Amino acid sequence: MKTWACINQKGGVGKTTSVVSLAGHLSKTGQRLLLIDLDPHGSLSSYMGYNPDEMETGIYSLFSEPTSNPADVARLLLPTPIENTYLFAASTALATLDRQIGSEQGAGKGLVVAKAIEAVADKFAYGLIDCPPMLGILMINALAACDQLLIPAQTDYLTLTGLERMMHTLEMVEKSLHKKTPYMIVPTMYDVRTRACQEALHKMKETYRYNVWGSVIPIDTRFRDASKRGVPLPTVAPYARGSLAYKKLLNFLLGIQDGKHGAEERQQTA
Ligand SMILES: Nc1ncnc2c1ncn2[C@@H]1O[C@H](COP(=O)(O)OP(=O)(O)O)[C@@H](O)[C@H]1O
Ligand SMILES: [Mg+2]
Repeated sequence: MKTWACINQKGGVGKTTSVVSLAGHLSKTGQRLLLIDLDPHGSLSSYMGYNPDEMETGIYSLFSEPTSNPADVARLLLPTPIENTYLFAASTALATLDRQIGSEQGAGKGLVVAKAIEAVADKFAYGLIDCPPMLGILMINALAACDQLLIPAQTDYLTLTGLERMMHTLEMVEKSLHKKTPYMIVPTMYDVRTRACQEALHKMKETYRYNVWGSVIPIDTRFRDASKRGVPLPTVAPYARGSLAYKKLLNFLLGIQDGKHGAEERQQTA
């Protein structure tokens, strides 16, 4: 099982949309997918039809009663409207985790999610983690559990400042975890008609070079409509430009996994 995480400390940049859209495409391959919602807001869980205010099981129970017993972990899996796809749901209670765990042994809880994923890894081909927009025990768990990081970043100036902070956080956490995970910045909500977007994309590439995906996710209002309906855009409108862009991203990620592209090529696909 390969696990990818969408991460960025800024909210509203397309993390949840990226998880759902990649899942929409991947699920069509017939392989089984696991979605993991580590955001206390529970947007991914809501998208999949669950109310994070009412969730009794899911990620939170992994922290209150840690287990790596495959049968116990499998009981937390919930079906989703996406075929072949299951969910570890978030609950609003996740917001209290950092306070509860506090300074006592925060590091000791860093592998809770990784261990749970490991326990059911033989059932799934891919895991997709939706990360919280703040540094804390959940973000640390996400970083410990994934093989590839995607950093969706809106193509505007404010996001660029946030991106710097994100990269700093990433470095800090990776140091403490003794782990280096490959990452790729994915420019999102790109509006080719606006100069601000073009300039922000240019700056992003200038600063982060080969770590920026060579293509973009364009702005597409249909993402919002799809989320209201609780379905991935690629499922209902596979040829919408947003869907096509995520298809391209997925193919690229699958290529990385097969060792097909070197860093230079990421830029050349622009
Ligand atoms: N490429 C896009 N074009 C237009 N709207 C988008 C796009 N990506 C995401 N959105 C919308 O922007 C909002 C924030 O996206 P979301 O994925 O929830 O961000 P995050 O998870 O980073 O907070 C949502 O309403 C979503 O439907
Ligand atoms: Mg989100």
